[in-house]
Amino acid sequence: MNTHKTLTIGLFGFGVVGEGLYKILKQTASLNATIKKVCIKHAGKKRNAPEALFTTDKDALLFDEDINVIVEVIDDSEAAFEIVTTALRNGKAVVSASKKMIAEHLPEILQLQQETGLPFLCEASACASIPVIRNLEEYYDNDLLHSIKAIVNGSTNFILTKMFEDKLDFNKALLLAQQLGFAESNPVLDVEGYDAVNKWIVILNHAYGIVEHPDNLLFTGIQNIQQSDALVAAKNNEEIKLVAQAKKLKNGKVAAFVLPQFIQHDDHLAFVKNEYNGVVIESGFADKQFFYGKGAGSFPTASAVLSDLSALRYDYKYEYKKLYHHKPHELTNEFYVRVYVSFEDVKYIPTDRFESIEQWHVESSRKYLVGVLPFEELLSNTWWKENNTSLVLAADAIIENLDVKNIKKQLKIM
Ligand code: HSE
Repeated sequence: MNTHKTLTIGLFGFGVVGEGLYKILKQTASLNATIKKVCIKHAGKKRNAPEALFTTDKDALLFDEDINVIVEVIDDSEAAFEIVTTALRNGKAVVSASKKMIAEHLPEILQLQQETGLPFLCEASACASIPVIRNLEEYYDNDLLHSIKAIVNGSTNFILTKMFEDKLDFNKALLLAQQLGFAESNPVLDVEGYDAVNKWIVILNHAYGIVEHPDNLLFTGIQNIQQSDALVAAKNNEEIKLVAQAKKLKNGKVAAFVLPQFIQHDDHLAFVKNEYNGVVIESGFADKQFFYGKGAGSFPTASAVLSDLSALRYDYKYEYKKLYHHKPHELTNEFYVRVYVSFEDVKYIPTDRFESIEQWHVESSRKYLVGVLPFEELLSNTWWKENNTSLVLAADAIIENLDVKNIKKQLKIM
């Protein structure tokens, strides 16, 4: 029988995920993995583990020769990057859940892996319990992956579910998401879409070999969604979700963004409620595949860390095949999107920049239109998220070429 590697872990962080991992490891003796030390920021807090396990000295982990794996589940992305860099340079494998850190430092992290030849695994950084990263990395060949459409942030999905199904107000729903350990310590990261775009950067890398900074991807969160938008959705038998998507266009380039979108009731993503995440993949011959699971919370996130630890026993590391063995895909902004925009006053809406306006509703105090915009317009302007304006993508949002079929009806305004 083969003997697998023994893992001696140095753990950074003992919050929702760190403590979850500690408890899970106690229940999985077969893994042959032990936590030797836990580095925390603040000493003196009461913690549910023996005091002797804790230190505030990061070097006590990073320079301990017995420790062969650093698990990093902290909040501060710059501190996390320093830990990861030192750990890899000191010959230790790394497991990380820090999506913000990875998204902001992707080129350096890729470089460090190449220089050291050591594994850096990050399944917990996107979609928590759903094994999406290793799947995208290993299963889908470059040419087969047509599109990915996903709900990647548990807190915003939880808030939308509580607001529009249980009629809770926004602040109560957010507080609940915080109490349940789903939200980031700065919940603006969830609500305004930063967390989702960071995760999307990680996923685009493993899916398409794309190396991009989050500043260059179009995104927003759910901060502008109004009750009246949800009513329009319900009238059309749809609901609103915060959706991350990537689609390979006919020119071979990839359209990618994170925006609120109307989701039809028979769409797989409509099934995704509360803190669950969902990923719909369209590929060459399999047609659609749907991955579903908890996207936030202590044990669901720690379970992904556990799976990375298990993979390390076999010396698994990402090969980044799409990046190094194929020609990596490029992003494109050359396409159009069908959008719903609701607003208080038309003076805030540059209607002349629409290719077409298909619906126009000005009968109530909250007005809205549905029309087609060049994607570039959203990237280079901010009117669509200012002055109490709310933008939601139509269910069939991406339009590659403007032809008669795609432009339903040109309405004359005024
Ligand atoms: N704040 C994140 C979310 C936690 O709500 O999805 C999991 O990454």
